[in-house]
Amino acid sequence: MASNPAPTAEAAPIPRHVAIIMDGNGRWAKARRLPRLAGHKQGVEAVRRVSRAAREQGIEVLTLYAFSSENWRRPEEEVRDLMGLLRHFLRNELKDLVAENVRLRVIGDYRALSGDLVAMIDDAIERTASNSGAILVIALNYGAQAEIVAAARRLAAAAQAGEVAPEAIDETMFSDALTTHGLPPLDLLIRTSGEQRLSNFLLWQAAYAELLFVDTLWPDFDGEALADAIAQFGRRQRRFGGL
Ligand code: FPP
Repeated sequence: MASNPAPTAEAAPIPRHVAIIMDGNGRWAKARRLPRLAGHKQGVEAVRRVSRAAREQGIEVLTLYAFSSENWRRPEEEVRDLMGLLRHFLRNELKDLVAENVRLRVIGDYRALSGDLVAMIDDAIERTASNSGAILVIALNYGAQAEIVAAARRLAAAAQAGEVAPEAIDETMFSDALTTHGLPPLDLLIRTSGEQRLSNFLLWQAAYAELLFVDTLWPDFDGEALADAIAQFGRRQRRFGGL
């Protein structure tokens, strides 16, 4: 029987890039007989708390699934509430992001949001563009399949224009055509609230990510829960297809 490798003094690896599917706001509210909005508000508090904790714990990139391209199917009032919370978040958080040297990136078709939000997002991206610390990526109106299709279209157009040979298109070129271009590979993907699905999030990027499904509802997730997730990541053996 193979024995476990002897423990070493070496520190467990810290994931460079962590993504979170923030699920369970509605159930958190329901358990307290509160409106769903109350759960989303606590969800925003968790975003503040966890993004700060991620920086303190040495994570370079944190990608958060805030609004999927399928979330438009929710009741109009809930969509409006979520957009309102996003507005509030951008207004309140921007100065801290600037002060803490955090760069904001947005993935997804955020230009389909209302004009004032698009302007706020563009402003926040621009004002943090030269920050060199951690990167906070917010996925807004994001769908991974649409992202992959858009990349394929872009490369097909480049091929048709004679700018790239079809046989030169490889995984690296394809990755560079995605909205996450230039970010470190995704190491750890967490989904809260006990659901075990990817829900059209970072499908390409998750190819070799460690997946972690935790029962905690997103509004209850905190720095300690993140530290625990990182510790679990540290105990996983990543083989990337090798032995
Ligand atoms: C899932 O909970 C959560 C969402 C669809 C939205 C996530 C959004 C936030 C945490 C707030 C906005 C984010 C930012 C960055 C300002 P759910 O409603 O699906 O919960 P349920 O499955 O329990 O109903």
